[in-house]
Amino acid sequence: MPSLKEIRAANALINDATAPRVSVWVGGTSGVGKLTIKALVETGVSVRIYIVGRKSSEERTKTFTQELNAINPKAEFVWIEGEVSLLAETKRVCEVIRSKESSIDLLFLSTGYAPLGTREETSEGLEICQSLEYYTRILFIIHLLPLLQKAESPRVVSVLGGGLERSSVNTDDIDLKKPGSFSSTTGQIQYCHLNSIGLDWLANEHPDVTFMHTWPGWVNTGNVRRGNVDPNSWMGWIIWLVLEPLIKTFSMRDEDSAQRNLFQCTSAAFGGHGVPWEGKPGLSTLKKPEGGLFLVNYKGDCTPNAKNMATLREKAQSKIWAHTQSILEPYL
Ligand SMILES: NC(=O)c1ccc[n+]([C@@H]2O[C@H](COP(=O)([O-])OP(=O)(O)OC[C@H]3O[C@@H](n4cnc5c(N)ncnc54)[C@H](OP(=O)(O)O)[C@@H]3O)[C@@H](O)[C@H]2O)c1
Repeated sequence: MPSLKEIRAANALINDATAPRVSVWVGGTSGVGKLTIKALVETGVSVRIYIVGRKSSEERTKTFTQELNAINPKAEFVWIEGEVSLLAETKRVCEVIRSKESSIDLLFLSTGYAPLGTREETSEGLEICQSLEYYTRILFIIHLLPLLQKAESPRVVSVLGGGLERSSVNTDDIDLKKPGSFSSTTGQIQYCHLNSIGLDWLANEHPDVTFMHTWPGWVNTGNVRRGNVDPNSWMGWIIWLVLEPLIKTFSMRDEDSAQRNLFQCTSAAFGGHGVPWEGKPGLSTLKKPEGGLFLVNYKGDCTPNAKNMATLREKAQSKIWAHTQSILEPYL
């Protein structure tokens, strides 16, 4: 596990040559994404940062980027409004980005929340959190892959629960639509597994891109309050009386989370490209230092989770990928 001191030292080496010169952030309007953007800009490098978000976040994101520009005038920000829980909007946003850029160094995906409330669907019929944490993320990757493949050392980082995979996943009801299937627990577990399985598929198809599924640990971002929870329900009370105080007490500092995520976005520890790293390299799900998916936790530990990933690959991956393709097909 790299110490925070080692991580800071590695991040201090980020310069105009090693920084992700063009990056796209879906989820950068709040939380971990926003903290990591700030840490990247504070390095003083020359970067162009696309932030994709819904209309309601536009004003505060513009205030945030103006503040960052005062710290680093070499950072350029491009705001792209889009309802990122929708696949049609994801496709449209990607078309806008493709019309502006020829290559992308980093795609950072961190939309979503703990699905602690009742099931709620988008107008496209997908559970909102599943769409944010899985389907739209995969669609962003597929649409932006041609641009990522034109970069020198491209990287995709999906923030959710990398490394927490078990040996089985629900393949009978992938979208948890059957009565009784969806709950806060099954939702969180299912979306984490879908991420690893889908990203593992893409990583094996595209070894020229570094794919990472990361687990941010506890960060006090207000994430547990975002689900469809009635504040007067038992779940509302659990969040207020138990979860929020626990998260407040045991979360890592925002600044430390930002440095750790910045390291994951830039270090050659994952995939061999980027900011030089002399420590032990991370091993992907193929147990290799290059190629395959990197599962990384909040401490920067990288695990191939080889046994469980091999079982998931053998027993579930083709079915899940075929299902994913059938959902995404109208938006490709
Ligand atoms: N924070 C933690 O302790 C923790 C722990 C483990 C896993 N995670 C997971 O890691 C990811 C990043 O976490 P975070 O704490 O950074 O999350 P966050 O701050 O709560 O939110 C991340 C992004 O999701 C967007 N979002 C939320 N609901 C949306 C909706 N209905 N429609 C469109 N956009 C929506 C937010 O947009 P707006 O800014 O417009 O609201 C924001 O850009 C999430 O998937 C989270 O579940 C977090």
